[in-house]
Amino acid sequence: MIKTTQIPLLKQLKASKPSATLAINERSAQLISEGKKVYRFGFGQSPFPVPEVIVDALRKNAHHKDYLPGYGLPALRTAVAEHAQRTLGISADAEQVMIGPGSKELIYQTQMALNADLLLPSPSWVSYEPQANLVNKKIHWIDTKETNGWRITAESLQAACNKSETEYKILILNYPNNPSGTTYTEEMLQSLVNVLRTNNVIVIADEIYGEVHHEGKHVTLSKFYPEGTIVSAGLSKWAGAGGWRLGTFIFPKELDGLKKGIRVIGSETFSTVSAPIQYAAVTAFSPSQEITDYISNSRKVLKWIGNYMHQSLAEMNIHCPKPEGGFYLFPNFEHYRTQLNKKGINTSAELCKELLENTGVAVLPGSPFGRPETEFTARLAYVDFDGSQLLQVIAENENLDELSIDEHCPNIAGAMKELGRWVNTLT
Ligand SMILES: Cc1ncc(COP(=O)(O)O)c(C=O)c1O
Repeated sequence: MIKTTQIPLLKQLKASKPSATLAINERSAQLISEGKKVYRFGFGQSPFPVPEVIVDALRKNAHHKDYLPGYGLPALRTAVAEHAQRTLGISADAEQVMIGPGSKELIYQTQMALNADLLLPSPSWVSYEPQANLVNKKIHWIDTKETNGWRITAESLQAACNKSETEYKILILNYPNNPSGTTYTEEMLQSLVNVLRTNNVIVIADEIYGEVHHEGKHVTLSKFYPEGTIVSAGLSKWAGAGGWRLGTFIFPKELDGLKKGIRVIGSETFSTVSAPIQYAAVTAFSPSQEITDYISNSRKVLKWIGNYMHQSLAEMNIHCPKPEGGFYLFPNFEHYRTQLNKKGINTSAELCKELLENTGVAVLPGSPFGRPETEFTARLAYVDFDGSQLLQVIAENENLDELSIDEHCPNIAGAMKELGRWVNTLT
């Protein structure tokens, strides 16, 4: 029998912290199996179905069985480039596009390929930091302020650059943002460009939520910093197809060497993305009225629910910036610090455990998003509603504000009531 007590794991894996996210997810599953009500705001999965035209395209393309070219199906690379021209207003050609098994993998491979420190806004999406740790990359966190929507500024970016000793740096800038729900305007992006240029910063602009900007006004950094911006996106968020695992990168021509380096890693690991998915994705990135309507209706629903939750939380003195895109809020329970401390709750992980046990509301602690452990922030994904039903409702009622959240989103309303009840026990 092989010795199982001392499996020789890589040191990066041994050093990794047990995931607070996993703990909440496991406890949620346990409570659900015991028949308890859990409001599922922990996992950031799109609540909407994949549009029928895209599902239909997948059906029709199920027979494709051959390996496809490493950079992706040529017709898909063209469709992605043309989609970027139409929706982002940038010039891009098929040669600049790379298709991967989810943008997460492409982001990881970029971190692996580039010998440069990583600059990360605090807060940032949970996976960037562990990815950097896996490839022994040094991280410099960029300060942000809640009052500034947790956004970075030219000054905070410069301060992080000053700490780095590598000639080049990588910045992963995600907007609309997970976890904060805020995004950047044209002026805010422009204000960063000088610092990016003078410090040789290669930016992965993680624009996976760009299509679900609530007003349809997403702007890409690539417009202002074309030579240093890789635009990262995919099907997971706007098309509800996270499980299809299709991500897209658009490289600037100036970073062709990096594109080739990443492809070397891809060719020795995942080879190429599933052929039927790539054929179906051509339809997803091609213009159609059905997809335009689907995206426009998704935005309306997300804006409606996001604003409702933001306001309900504010009435309970749980504050967060107003959501602008995607489906996240980053509420801060700081107002209740004294009462929480009295209950022996001192960290965001303990706060989330308390919320789950006493309200059934599952949210993730702010700490794995790069916030201090003792800050009472949490990431709330407002996705616990029936996306198919709401798309139907909005097709029949233009004005969502006349509809009742209680009736159409019972779990959203129920969670707010439970939180309200819990808050009253604190004061
Ligand atoms: C900010 C952000 N970037 C990237 C991803 C990964 O997306 P994909 O499904 O394309 O790997 C996610 C998924 O949750 C995300 O929230």
